[in-house]
Amino acid sequence: MARGSRLGRFALGCLCCLVLATGGRGGVSGEGEVAMPEVVEVEMGKTAIIPCQFSLPENGSYAYIHWHSFDKTQRKLIISMIRDREQNTDPKLKDRLSILANFSLEIRQAALQDAKVYICQVGLGSAGVAENRTTLRVSKAPEPPIIQKTDTGITASDSEKYEIAKCISRNSYPASTITWYKDEEPLTENGKDIEIRPMHIMESSGLYTVQSTLLAQVTKEDRHAVFHCQVDYSLMGVKQTIVSKNFTINIHYPSEEISFVINASRPVVKEGDSVTLHCKADGNPPPEYTLVKLQDGEEEPLSDVSGGKVVLRDVDRNQSGSYLCKVLDLQSFAELNASVNLFVNYLDVPTVRIVAVDAEKQQRKHTPREGDTLLLTCNTTSSGPVEFQWEKKGEVISTDHLLKLTKVTYQDMGEYTCRVTMPEVPGLSRSKVASVVIHSKPKLTTPEGVVYVKEGEVLNLTCSVFSVQKPKFFWSAKNITSHPLSSRNHQHNSTISIQVTEALLTSGINCSAENKLGTTEHQFMLELRPAATKPGVPDSDEMLKPKESNGVIIVAVIVCIMVVSILGAVLYFLHKKGKLACGRSGKQEITRPDAHKDEIVVEVKSDKAPEEAGLLQGANGEKKSTGDQGEEYINLRN
Ligand SMILES: *[C@@H]1O[C@H](CO)[C@@H](O)[C@H](O)[C@H]1NC(C)=O
Ligand SMILES: *[C@@H]1O[C@H](CO)[C@@H](O)[C@H](O)[C@H]1NC(C)=O
Ligand SMILES: *[C@@H]1O[C@H](CO)[C@@H](O)[C@H](O)[C@H]1NC(C)=O
Ligand SMILES: *[C@@H]1O[C@H](CO)[C@@H](O)[C@H](O)[C@H]1NC(C)=O
Ligand SMILES: *[C@@H]1O[C@H](CO)[C@@H](O)[C@H](O)[C@H]1NC(C)=O
Ligand SMILES: *[C@@H]1O[C@H](CO)[C@@H](O)[C@H](O)[C@H]1NC(C)=O
Ligand SMILES: *[C@@H]1O[C@H](CO)[C@@H](O)[C@H](O)[C@H]1NC(C)=O
Ligand SMILES: *[C@@H]1O[C@H](CO)[C@@H](O)[C@H](O)[C@H]1NC(C)=O
Ligand SMILES: *[C@@H]1O[C@H](CO)[C@@H](O)[C@H](O)[C@H]1NC(C)=O
Ligand SMILES: *[C@@H]1O[C@H](CO)[C@@H](O)[C@H](O)[C@H]1NC(C)=O
Ligand SMILES: *[C@@H]1O[C@H](CO)[C@@H](O)[C@H](O)[C@H]1NC(C)=O
Ligand SMILES: *[C@@H]1O[C@H](CO)[C@@H](O)[C@H](O)[C@H]1NC(C)=O
Repeated sequence: MARGSRLGRFALGCLCCLVLATGGRGGVSGEGEVAMPEVVEVEMGKTAIIPCQFSLPENGSYAYIHWHSFDKTQRKLIISMIRDREQNTDPKLKDRLSILANFSLEIRQAALQDAKVYICQVGLGSAGVAENRTTLRVSKAPEPPIIQKTDTGITASDSEKYEIAKCISRNSYPASTITWYKDEEPLTENGKDIEIRPMHIMESSGLYTVQSTLLAQVTKEDRHAVFHCQVDYSLMGVKQTIVSKNFTINIHYPSEEISFVINASRPVVKEGDSVTLHCKADGNPPPEYTLVKLQDGEEEPLSDVSGGKVVLRDVDRNQSGSYLCKVLDLQSFAELNASVNLFVNYLDVPTVRIVAVDAEKQQRKHTPREGDTLLLTCNTTSSGPVEFQWEKKGEVISTDHLLKLTKVTYQDMGEYTCRVTMPEVPGLSRSKVASVVIHSKPKLTTPEGVVYVKEGEVLNLTCSVFSVQKPKFFWSAKNITSHPLSSRNHQHNSTISIQVTEALLTSGINCSAENKLGTTEHQFMLELRPAATKPGVPDSDEMLKPKESNGVIIVAVIVCIMVVSILGAVLYFLHKKGKLACGRSGKQEITRPDAHKDEIVVEVKSDKAPEEAGLLQGANGEKKSTGDQGEEYINLRN
């Protein structure tokens, strides 16, 4: 109650200003005035507040406040405030209505039916009755627009309009409006190629659903056009817009262009490659493609063609030729075709022919022998120019199709590879390996040298020869134990064991190897090993020739030492007798021979040294001779 009067007093204070400022809008009494906005906007479902402000005479108070609704012609009391208490509330609106402390009318969950005129009537007692009115507007935003595209494709035409799409904006209040856009440009009905059919539906709820159908003539060029619709509506008196999703349309148009290409991983196709033939006509929907190979004027249809594409895997030379792609457009019934030429490069594994020419007789012969000239000819078939290359053991020895080997020896034997390539076709290479075999009489591979032996010992001797055919070995000595022949890579070893006898020492042993082309003989010279210094232990050094001179050197050294000693004694004797100019020089002369003696000893040592060094060097392959001797020795023992 106190609140109400205070406000009333405040309002009264402002009375004069209000009267001056407004100047009358249907007040019953000239005394008091009620200020109300002309319009109040509310969003459906939200709370509306309709203000009602009035002034009271000083210390005066209002008698009552009546809120009426006014719908068309019917005026109806909906709620009252008497002595700060709400009364007379319309039972239908009871839950949603109240009068606020500042006399504003609150309508909760505003509905479309609430959109009426509301009158605030204030009873001011002695000052009379005053009232004013406000129109309540209820609005609602539409749901986002929905596009219903034409399901089937739209035929491109320059004479007929087809339905493109519908744009539907549901449940707005008041009704919204729809505008169509193509590529961000608004479309308007023009009586020619664009027609727009709007439609308003009032739902039972009182809300509006607005629909617009766009019809237009479209051309092939419109296939990339982006369409959308825009909905304009008003919410709480403010203009708003909402746009649909962008969409494109499926335009049917006949094929006009056709392309037929070969798609391969490399620009030059070779056997074994995978190749895709791709035919594409520009019609929509895509037409049916027929791919054929033109073979002697006949058309051979290709299988597994899908969408104008066919993959030819692992192509061969037979697939070279012309291919044709045909398209029948079902809209225009026009037939289009395009052709493409496929060329599959090929290179065959080369063939190699070996011809041996006798150097003297200039005759061709079958089996090449030493001294002959060999002609290796590489030949191949290919789709284009080729390059030849001869290789032996990975090394290029010729870049011609012909390889000429003159005066061949058994060392020219081996595998020769002819490699052919096509410079114009990267990655195409073929090769053939040819084995060259050169026949000759057995070749001795046993190292030459003297074999040092001890009388009575059992000696192993190996005779090694090189021969393409298996040779026969003959040994000159009787009473030998032959070990099995070992052969590998045309290398044949015959090993025997034999007891060294005096007779054998004088005769030596000969080994001969024989094949169809001749005989080769090897003479093993046997020499007695010098008397061993350490008997029983056959030291390897003892078998080597240089060792023999060691004894001589040792004797020489002993003799030298004796000579020097005697000389020293003589000199000392002469010095003692005073026959020599004495002093330091004399003493020096005595010491010198000692120095010489040392030198000689050193020489002896240094003589021994080369052997040791030689063995080491031999291991390093520097000092060959000693090393070879060592090998020879090992061979002999084996
Ligand atoms: C109603 O209120 C408005 C705004 O306050 C005012 O301009 C107008 O004069 C009032 N009308 C009456 C009849 O009081
Ligand atoms: C209003 O009331 C106050 C006390 O509440 C009083 O002093 C004042 O004179 C009154 N004014 C009038 C015009 O009655
Ligand atoms: C009246 O009170 C309500 C709630 O307190 C407020 O929203 C509204 O603005 C007030 N109206 C005026 C005219 O002061
Ligand atoms: C529709 O497309 C235009 C350009 O074509 C673009 O600017 C706009 O953001 C798009 N709208 C939607 C909702 O994707
Ligand atoms: C050829 O094939 C490759 C992949 O295999 C593809 O990226 C390329 O677009 C194709 N080219 C044509 C002309 O079809
Ligand atoms: C190419 O076709 C012929 C017969 O037409 C056939 O004899 C030959 O083997 C084929 N070649 C290949 C590489 O398929
Ligand atoms: C391909 O089309 C042309 C016309 O563009 C036509 O003259 C020709 O006969 C067609 N070829 C085949 C094999 O259909
Ligand atoms: C290579 O071989 C073909 C047949 O395969 C033959 O016609 C041609 O004469 C040969 N060429 C040479 C240089 O031998
Ligand atoms: C043959 O050698 C064996 C030992 O190897 C020996 O016992 C035998 O006397 C020898 N025979 C002849 C005839 O030399
Ligand atoms: C033959 O003997 C030599 C050494 O004398 C050896 O290198 C070679 O491997 C042997 N060959 C065979 C087939 O035993
Ligand atoms: C070994 O051959 C040489 C000559 O080749 C010959 O003089 C010698 O008598 C032969 N020795 C034996 C034991 O046959
Ligand atoms: C000789 O050869 C045989 C068999 O290969 C072997 O058992 C024997 O130890 C060898 N003798 C010598 C002295 O190397």
